[in-house]
Amino acid sequence: MHNLEEIKLKALEELERIKNLNDLNEFKIKYLGKKGIITEMIKNLKTLTLEERRIFGAKLNEIKDFLEEKIEKKKEELIDLEGDFYDISLLGYKREFGNIHPITRVFNEIIDIFLSMGFSIEDGPEIEEDWYNFTALNIPKYHPARDMQDTFYLENNKLLRTHTSPIQIRTMEKNNPPIRIIAPGRVFRRDELDATHSPVFHQLEGLYVDKNVSLSDLKGTIEIFIHKLFSKDIEIKFRPSYFPFTEPSLEVLIYKDNKWLEILGAGMVHPKVLKNCNINPEIYSGFAFGLGIERITMIKYNINDIRLFYENDIKFLKQIKGG
Ligand code: DAH
Repeated sequence: MHNLEEIKLKALEELERIKNLNDLNEFKIKYLGKKGIITEMIKNLKTLTLEERRIFGAKLNEIKDFLEEKIEKKKEELIDLEGDFYDISLLGYKREFGNIHPITRVFNEIIDIFLSMGFSIEDGPEIEEDWYNFTALNIPKYHPARDMQDTFYLENNKLLRTHTSPIQIRTMEKNNPPIRIIAPGRVFRRDELDATHSPVFHQLEGLYVDKNVSLSDLKGTIEIFIHKLFSKDIEIKFRPSYFPFTEPSLEVLIYKDNKWLEILGAGMVHPKVLKNCNINPEIYSGFAFGLGIERITMIKYNINDIRLFYENDIKFLKQIKGG
């Protein structure tokens, strides 16, 4: 009995001196492990008489419970202590960084290119009037774009702009030439969402009005832009087209992955459009262009489904970096 009490005191002393969880674990094994001092003694009880077994058994169990409790307490103390302790040799955790959305990234790239060429940024409302979205742009009453099936109409003759071109009108109304602007923005059309259509998408409009602005200014500007955005040896083709607000109108294509791909619409600002903004077409001329950001981003990064831009799947968003 006396011996047991001594063992208990010795263990307690030992426990007091322990300063880390590792040593505590070893201590536990030493006394209470499978071959620990106390465990062995409990095993040896069977060699004693019934009476001895009762007395020593009770004492040993008391010591076992006592040590278990002390060990738990010590463990909590040590965990608290170690919580304040920084091991600078440990490997760090990898931090997850956010990523700029591909649409924003391409918008920014395109905007930077035009800013470097002397264009400034204009803005306009997403809720538009018929005059700005259609009439002033020489889009006649019977034009299919005005159809209920293409345009979201709101109350009081308002509508959601179907393109960024109304910002051309708003800018020319407010300013005298020279005008050299780009206008990035969100546009809306009554399209079903599928791999290539979305009811909400993004465009960037460009407008340059001054004396003696010519078609070759337009072509030169577009060429510089495309070479900066894609690469300086990408092949470019201009093809005649039709837009009510430009005359002549053209489409611009690039050769990529063995295909000619349409990437923007452009043209010389129609004299009627200039007149609608009180700019004299006898004195001034201009060019305009409009491009779809989703389409350009899809071409640039070989993305085959427009819906990926709006689902915000981290795995997709993470793939598009740099540029
Ligand atoms: N607004 C046209 C569209 O949404 C794009 C466009 C074409 C804009 C030619 C222009 C332009 O400024 O000159 O399809």
